[in-house]
Amino acid sequence: MISGKQEKGSTIKVAVLASGRGSNFEALCRGKTGNGRIALLISDNEKAEILQKASASGVEALYMSPGKYRTKFEESEEMEWVRLMRSRGIELVCLAGLMRIIKGPMLEEYNGRILNIHPSLLPSFPGLNAQKQALDYGVRITGCTVHYVNAGVDTGPIILQKTVHVADDDTVETLSGRILQQEHLAYSEAVKLHCGGVLAVDGRRIFKRKI
Ligand code: GAR
Repeated sequence: MISGKQEKGSTIKVAVLASGRGSNFEALCRGKTGNGRIALLISDNEKAEILQKASASGVEALYMSPGKYRTKFEESEEMEWVRLMRSRGIELVCLAGLMRIIKGPMLEEYNGRILNIHPSLLPSFPGLNAQKQALDYGVRITGCTVHYVNAGVDTGPIILQKTVHVADDDTVETLSGRILQQEHLAYSEAVKLHCGGVLAVDGRRIFKRKI
């Protein structure tokens, strides 16, 4: 899989998919994303705070049904999401707190062009409640990871990671807050790298091409 084949300098339309608060979406909108332009937000949750935030920021924001399942898409619904993104010319998909597994049509259409942010240093603590998992385990350093999405849960090739020290008096809330600050920096940086066409993926390893 080789990503980032787009021409240097051309604008890449980015869709953000999210379920809740939307702070990573906001950070992406105001961050330095290089050729990447946040053009669309889709939420699987009608009540998500992020829907109001997106409208206020001038980005097209939509609720779309994910279908009847709780943690994955119904295939026909996932296809609808893909059609909508295709119709808007979306070339990169960023998952930002989307609490749902991407498997079928979206992964086929956007293979190598879906990013996810996760609040731990993967491969440690994948899945839900990553910050609590880190605290309970007793690690002294944790952080966040931006990676390409593959068919597994939080298992795709890693683009970049940022570290956060765990303090003796940390709670899940305080630790999550400091990780979130790093997430906001990491996500824009990763989008910029992808959209700059400089990333080459070789198996699990990602290299920055010299161009
Ligand atoms: C972020 O901490 C993100 O890393 C996490 O959900 C939060 C969304 O916050 N994602 C996952 O845990 C995915 N496995 P936000 O809605 O404020 O961007």
